[in-house]
Amino acid sequence: MTDDELTASLSGCTALVTGAGGGIGRAISVALARRGVLVGLVGRRRSTLLRAMSGAEHQLFVTDLAADSQLRQTTRSFLRHFRRLDILVHSNGIYASAPLERSRVRDFDRLWTSNVRSPFLLTQLLLPDLRACSGQIVFVNSSVRIVFVNSSVRTGSVPVSGSSLRRSMPCGRSPIRSEQS
Ligand SMILES: NC(=O)c1ccc[n+]([C@@H]2O[C@H](COP(=O)([O-])OP(=O)(O)OC[C@H]3O[C@@H](n4cnc5c(N)ncnc54)[C@H](OP(=O)(O)O)[C@@H]3O)[C@@H](O)[C@H]2O)c1
Repeated sequence: MTDDELTASLSGCTALVTGAGGGIGRAISVALARRGVLVGLVGRRRSTLLRAMSGAEHQLFVTDLAADSQLRQTTRSFLRHFRRLDILVHSNGIYASAPLERSRVRDFDRLWTSNVRSPFLLTQLLLPDLRACSGQIVFVNSSVRIVFVNSSVRTGSVPVSGSSLRRSMPCGRSPIRSEQS
């Protein structure tokens, strides 16, 4: 596909990008907007979202994805505003790493909620709309998990890696198919 063909195929599509105020999410949002995609930027801090993009058509959704009620409200607001969803980009995430004996359960819970649970729930809620558009899901996460370093156990950014979630999702490189099981 040529560059022009890619732009033509994306123009008028919609995307919801989480972590859009962060380094990777912002770069993805800007790249999509340049191709004519209408982007919904999701993040906790309005200030970083505001800095993420200017000029292109976009909408901000200030949301803590760790709070189910806020996450659900954002999916409703996004669909009310954009009417459809072609691309869902999960680029929110937090990172923490420590030897197991010094790892805190509180950090484990935060990592689980941010990096695995919220992408799971967001995908589940938006799947019908993605399927209706033969949409795409992109997971940006860390492959770090429980690892052995110099004979000691170390917990990584996601004890159960977000990449496991990606592998288990009904997507991959192909558009999501509307299949009943
Ligand atoms: N950068 C790298 O070299 C690298 C390498 C491998 C993997 N990764 C992974 O790729 C992902 C994106 O990386 P990045 O460098 O762009 O990270 P980043 O700059 O830290 O951005 C992550 C964004 O996620 C948002 N976020 C975190 N928790 C959230 C929550 N509960 N609700 C809503 N938004 C939340 C943050 O929003 P606020 O700022 O508003 O809080 C932040 O803007 C992360 O999962 C990271 O672990 C990054």
